[in-house]
Amino acid sequence: MTEPFTIAIDGPAAAGKGTISKAVAAHFNMAHLDTGLLYRAVGARVLAGEDAVEAARTLVAADLENDSLRTQDVAQAASKVAVIGDVRAALLDFQRAFARRAGGAVLDGRDIGTVICPQAEVKLFVTASAEVRAKRRYDELVSRGQPADLEAVTADVKARDARDMERAEAPLKPAQDAVLIDTSDKTIDQAVAAAIDAVNLKKG
Ligand code: DC
Repeated sequence: MTEPFTIAIDGPAAAGKGTISKAVAAHFNMAHLDTGLLYRAVGARVLAGEDAVEAARTLVAADLENDSLRTQDVAQAASKVAVIGDVRAALLDFQRAFARRAGGAVLDGRDIGTVICPQAEVKLFVTASAEVRAKRRYDELVSRGQPADLEAVTADVKARDARDMERAEAPLKPAQDAVLIDTSDKTIDQAVAAAIDAVNLKKG
């Protein structure tokens, strides 16, 4: 396929968006953009002392390779810079151009189906209960050898949910025509299969 074809995958932290997006992109041989990384890269530069809007306007590919981007501190900083309208505006064109590239693209984030690509051919909203998501994030931190405390991770997930859902600019919510996938009781394989089925239905 050489035509643009956009698959928008939104949802809260640790719902399984990343895993599903990578698997869907590989299955359909499409490019994949984890848009959370853009906000994390801006957050990391803010933690290093820079202005958020300036960092967003001057973001370069090397910023996305910073090893600290997956830490909890950077996740919180990302969620904080993400409420700033000028930060979101600075990251918009890059995401839209990526979405319409030849051959199709999968973008995952919070506002892909609602703001970045409201015309996306497929929109998925991937979710899971806060407790299940916190346990997954905790297991992930432990497996990477990072210090973790389940209660603190749960509080962190809930704080980030509240900030992401309650902000005025592009809040986290399902697009009206999104297909909902609740991964709370699904294995990774079941969740990926549900996503691929939903895409196949739209591809016809
Ligand atoms: O998906 P993630 O955990 O890497 O995202 C980090 C933060 O970035 C998240 O708390 C909210 C923000 N974000 C956003 O506002 N819009 C997106 N499209 C992606 C992420």
